[in-house]
Amino acid sequence: MSDFPLEAKNLRYRYPDGLGAISDVSFTLEEKEKIALIGANGSGKTTLLMLLAGCMSPQKGEIYLRGRETAKDSVSLRKNTGMLFQEPDDQLFMPTVAEDVSFGLVASGVNAREARAKAIAGLEALGSEYLAERPPHRMSSGEKRRAALAGILVTQPDILLLDEPTSGLDPVARMKLIEILDNLGKSMIIATHDLNMAMDLCDTALILKDGAITARGRTRDILLNEQLMLNNGLCLPLGYQ
Ligand SMILES: Nc1ncnc2c1ncn2[C@@H]1O[C@H](COP(=O)(O)OP(=O)(O)O)[C@@H](O)[C@H]1O
Ligand SMILES: [Mg+2]
Repeated sequence: MSDFPLEAKNLRYRYPDGLGAISDVSFTLEEKEKIALIGANGSGKTTLLMLLAGCMSPQKGEIYLRGRETAKDSVSLRKNTGMLFQEPDDQLFMPTVAEDVSFGLVASGVNAREARAKAIAGLEALGSEYLAERPPHRMSSGEKRRAALAGILVTQPDILLLDEPTSGLDPVARMKLIEILDNLGKSMIIATHDLNMAMDLCDTALILKDGAITARGRTRDILLNEQLMLNNGLCLPLGYQ
């Protein structure tokens, strides 16, 4: 049995309206590996991350976390993964950022005082302690994303699942986020259209098309293969066309 942080085998998921969203997806995420999950709109990136995060259960297949099968064990999946949703507004719901970042800790039984101290330290680590008393709905999208990421990191998940983390960020906020992710030393899967980030950050790229994996390899080998990218409804990263 493998003890990879995560291994998916033959995952399949259909939404209730019957359309196939994920069909027969298998791959492994190795220790500290960063996988770029790329594919055209509607190819199934978000659905796959939601299955791995325990937000939905696959109809078929297995998800192993360090060798333990957890496909239907949404509690284990949620505990061991940290999912950054595409829309930070879906993630932030408390009156202040500090309360929001503490929320997961408090929910797991940490007392309020300690949770707050950890939340502030978590925000500091992302250069965002100035946000602690701010209401999330009155912040920029970069600030919201850092607040949401702090809330995930303080719970120390084994695996990060990030859904289009750089979308809507200005160039400076984007660079800061990439630097933060690069320095975390964690295993992560990043669904993204930001191919230049994928080139800079990710060891491996995995292409989804119509819910199935059509390619997996070293990021450069995949992203700079023009024919492969075109066949999957994608194009070369900026600066490589
Ligand atoms: N809640 C939903 N109900 C029904 N179909 C959905 C739902 N969410 C996504 N889909 C469909 O599942 C497929 C994959 O979507 P999604 O995982 O969001 O792709 P991506 O993140 O790559 O854009 C698409 O055909 C999409 O229309
Ligand atoms: Mg998506």
